[in-house]
Amino acid sequence: MCGIIGYTGTKPVCPILIDGLRALEYRGYDSAGVALSGKTLTTVKRAGRISVLEEALAAGEAGADLQAPCGIAHTRWATHGAPTDANAHPHATDRLALVHNGIIENDRALRRELEEKGYVFNSETDTEAAAKLIDSIYAETPDPIAAIRAAAKRLEGAYALAVVFADRPKQIYAIRRDNPLIVAATAEGAFLASDIPALLPHTKDYYRPDENEIVVLDAEGEAPSVRFFGAEGELTHPVCTVNWNVEQAEKGGYDHFMRKELGEGPEGVRRTLTPLVRDGLPAFGLPLMDGLGKMRSMRIVACGTAMHAGLMGRAFIERLARMPVTVEIASEFRYRNPILSPDEPILLLSQSGETADTLAALRLARANGIPTAAIVNVIGSSVAREADAVLATHAGPEIAVASTKAYATQASMMALIAVAIAHQRGLITDEKAKEMTAALADRLPAALEETIALEEQMIEQAKRLSSAEHVFYIGRGTDYDGSVEGALKLKEISYIHSEAYAAGELKHGTISLITDGVPVVALSTDANTASKMASNMREVRARGGYVLLICTEATRAEVEPCSDACIVLPESDPMLAPICGVLTEHMIAYHTARVMGCDVDKPRNLAKSVTVE
Ligand code: G6P
Repeated sequence: MCGIIGYTGTKPVCPILIDGLRALEYRGYDSAGVALSGKTLTTVKRAGRISVLEEALAAGEAGADLQAPCGIAHTRWATHGAPTDANAHPHATDRLALVHNGIIENDRALRRELEEKGYVFNSETDTEAAAKLIDSIYAETPDPIAAIRAAAKRLEGAYALAVVFADRPKQIYAIRRDNPLIVAATAEGAFLASDIPALLPHTKDYYRPDENEIVVLDAEGEAPSVRFFGAEGELTHPVCTVNWNVEQAEKGGYDHFMRKELGEGPEGVRRTLTPLVRDGLPAFGLPLMDGLGKMRSMRIVACGTAMHAGLMGRAFIERLARMPVTVEIASEFRYRNPILSPDEPILLLSQSGETADTLAALRLARANGIPTAAIVNVIGSSVAREADAVLATHAGPEIAVASTKAYATQASMMALIAVAIAHQRGLITDEKAKEMTAALADRLPAALEETIALEEQMIEQAKRLSSAEHVFYIGRGTDYDGSVEGALKLKEISYIHSEAYAAGELKHGTISLITDGVPVVALSTDANTASKMASNMREVRARGGYVLLICTEATRAEVEPCSDACIVLPESDPMLAPICGVLTEHMIAYHTARVMGCDVDKPRNLAKSVTVE
């Protein structure tokens, strides 16, 4: 949800900011802007993509000092006001320029107050109130730390703010509350950013300031520095190091990040599961995780695709370990006064570890003394830092807005957790647990690779789907859980209306929408329900629907005769096959959007990291 970057150092800031914005563009792409702090403080901002901003800069817009060695920049996901030049960040006054990721909730009241003082607002954004509030305090007390601290006390909501002051051309000041911000210093400069990919070309070492601290980036002294100031004075933080590399955050010859990342799923699963296997059995090395079997039940809380991985996890855990599991959408969970119990741990799933609703759910659980575990892809993220126990998925940086390789790692981690709980509860023997663990850690990555090799068949089907107005997805059990994710992916990136239905529920309403040629993607990996799926597919075809079947050798004989086209997965194992099935649906969604010429990596209106509620 919006990306911010800042740099002060020895190099011209412009290219650093523009490259940083590109690395953060997945966070929002409605507009982009920079404030360049050199001989003057100038702001250039444009609605639209970063290339539009680049053109404005190249054209010498507003006399911008392209050699300036200090500046801040922003890529926007619009919340308050349409994507226009005026609403783009930075928001500037004569004294300062400011970029903001998050939402200021009391902006209307602040705006009225500042208007009474004579300020004239130029945008519809909440952010402009923060800029003018700091300006009004700084006008009285020209101390940046004091001004930002005083303003922060008045700001309600969530934010990561970065500010440059016209009279301090080599410094950047920043503060965060409930929104991510990382900072780093090298011999060449001091950096701040919303996320790691923006820093990767410069350094792998960074700091995560705590909430409400003032961060000062300074290139005035002998070496560029980053300093942190809490209410009690200066603080230090341990350095965090990321093991990602720049290549992982680049397209590497692919047309889209999404296609590259689909291909990285199998290796991500291998890297995720391998360290969690000891003597052939799941071993998490965390008391909470290794004692899950003793718990009465479990709650999984997450958003979007991560929540769908939780649905798949629920099915695995309930089926294998006989533990009741509920899966909740994080934004619903926190506002319905949930009934919590200490023998029902909460497991949070999040790729970014910064999703506002997931983080708030975690805090609610912790405030009530509930044990919490988190499965996150970004180590050092807020969710990872605050949960009692943390398991890392090693998907590597995920840039495409549509989450794919993260899903593969999350779903496979959930499968391993199911095996672990079943084993802890004595429901499966050592031998069976070892067999299942090996299937997940060794066989699943290979099966996912073999699934990707079926790409030509998926492209064929994608061409057909690309002309559809509506697409339905059906399945039963884990295949329904997979269908929900398949439908989400297709609608997110191709804008084709798609919905998932439990196959048995079709005849209770949705079947009225099936007319001649309407595609229905049927996922059937579960031999126990294959005959029922076959009936449901027949019902669809009897109404003229086109059934694209994704099945396994175990279900094929039953379901293939009821389909118009069939993709047979390379794996029939009840835990592996649905994960391969979802990968197939992800690939079909990707190719459908690509055939349609959609902006696959940056779908309309979406952002990858949703740090607002
Ligand atoms: C956004 C993204 C989704 C993602 C969801 C949860 O909506 O577009 O792809 O699944 O947030 O994100 P998280 O980082 O918590 O997994």
